[in-house]
Amino acid sequence: MPFELPALPYAKDALNPVITAETIDFHYGKHHQAYVTNLNKLTEGTAHADASLEDVIMASDGGLFNNAAQVWNHTFYWNCMKAGGGGEPTGALAEAIARDFGSMDDFRRDFKNAAVAQFGSGWAWLVQDGDKLAITTTANADLPMKHGQKALMTCDVWEHAYYIDFRNARPNYVEAFLDKLVNWDFVAGNLA
Ligand code: FE2
Repeated sequence: MPFELPALPYAKDALNPVITAETIDFHYGKHHQAYVTNLNKLTEGTAHADASLEDVIMASDGGLFNNAAQVWNHTFYWNCMKAGGGGEPTGALAEAIARDFGSMDDFRRDFKNAAVAQFGSGWAWLVQDGDKLAITTTANADLPMKHGQKALMTCDVWEHAYYIDFRNARPNYVEAFLDKLVNWDFVAGNLA
């Protein structure tokens, strides 16, 4: 059973004007699709062909890991956003953010700084590490599960995520992600 590109959780113009349909056409339709296509080429006829995506990620390195992890990362990223998102979380997640970062404002500042400071391609994450929340960044395809952490939220900071809509202004993209796109219900649902 080949790996498949999961459906987007919203219409491709749903995040307009922050993330335009043109970006989605390239980012989801070309980049995400290419990772799925490559993953199928690399696993066809091997012991990984019938494994779960998570099992391939945990068992692999090099090109196979990069493509498998990028399939997982992008599917997770799309779910971290919604039309009319942003604002602030509530409930247990809000309490955990206040406990571990001081306040929602402190979290927003630290997450933005981390995302902007990630050199080159990668990802900024809110993770659960043991019984604490933490902000991390990973390079290229790397992801929290490879480090014993549980991903709660991610922002893709590869240039392909923002160059059409924000050109080189990664700080503006990350700010818009936080202010207008984050699907806090999805993020809260990932909190174990
Ligand atoms: Fe991406």
